Amino acid sequence: MRSLLFVPGDSEKKLEKGLSSEADVLLIDLEDSVSADHKETARKIAADFLAANRHCPSPRLFVRINDLASGFADDDLAAVMPATPHGILLPKSNSGKDVTRLSVKLNVHEARAGIAEGSTQILAIITETAIGTLSAASYLAASERLIGLSWGAEDLSAAIGARTPRDDTGRYTDVFRLARAVTILGASAAEVAAIDTVYINYRDEEGLLRECEQAERDGFTGKLAIHPAQIPIINRTFTPSAAALAHATRIVEAFAENPSAGVIGIDGQMFDRPHLRRAQLLLNRARSTG
Ligand code: COA
Ligand code: MG
Repeated sequence: MRSLLFVPGDSEKKLEKGLSSEADVLLIDLEDSVSADHKETARKIAADFLAANRHCPSPRLFVRINDLASGFADDDLAAVMPATPHGILLPKSNSGKDVTRLSVKLNVHEARAGIAEGSTQILAIITETAIGTLSAASYLAASERLIGLSWGAEDLSAAIGARTPRDDTGRYTDVFRLARAVTILGASAAEVAAIDTVYINYRDEEGLLRECEQAERDGFTGKLAIHPAQIPIINRTFTPSAAALAHATRIVEAFAENPSAGVIGIDGQMFDRPHLRRAQLLLNRARSTG
């Protein structure tokens, strides 16, 4: 799950286009990119699209429903769950309790659709409200369905009354850097993927690449996208390189040969248990994405 492409749920054209992108996941949006008077149309288009493409191996198909306090979420789920999406993206999550609540709702929809309980996965955007941002530690054990956490700057900006999330140099200001950081920590604590937020200047490839590299460096393993042109850059940055994999393999093998060693040396550099753990995580991630 390196690249996750948002597609407005009321656009049949963009949905089709999304299928032929190399995105790992399509996020069929029923929330912010769909106006209130298009919600019903978007639900219908999304359900038909899911029914027609649910069995394609890639991309995986997730639906971003409206948040649990919006009054739209139950109608969203009722419309799309019979077409069995791979997962649901929950926006404006206020804490792990919201994920648990969504999970209980999904139990009911899965029973009605005749699919196994727990088969629908959950991703959550956890920093779009102030309380959500302050509750990043609450996702541990929220639901077995949870596979990743992401963050958002635009809604948080509106929520706290900030004029813009970035300073004059383009760097996120403190509150947003905190939101980004607690997403990495919250995801790690819950043992799920940390997914970086969107880069909205979709013509600026250089800026996107820089942001991808910083995200990968800091512990994110994927990034949200809003335009198909962003997908190749995201996929490239978040695919572990052959050199990184070879290096990780060497570390794992060296510890396997010396099971009682706490620390080893390779090419004049020290490696201890945290390095082994990091190498194993990288290899697991590469294995799970093939
Ligand atoms: N998914 C699939 N296809 C997309 C797409 C997306 N997110 N964004 C653009 N495309 C398609 C366009 O339809 C166009 O197709 P065409 O060549 O067949 O006409 C092609 O890619 C090139 O698009 P372009 O002209 O560069 O952009 P645009 O002006 O059509 O669209 C946006 C710009 C921002 C409106 C569009 O990228 C978009 O809708 N993004 C998603 C927004 C969203 O979901 N936001 C919510 C999460 S923050
Ligand atoms: Mg939003």
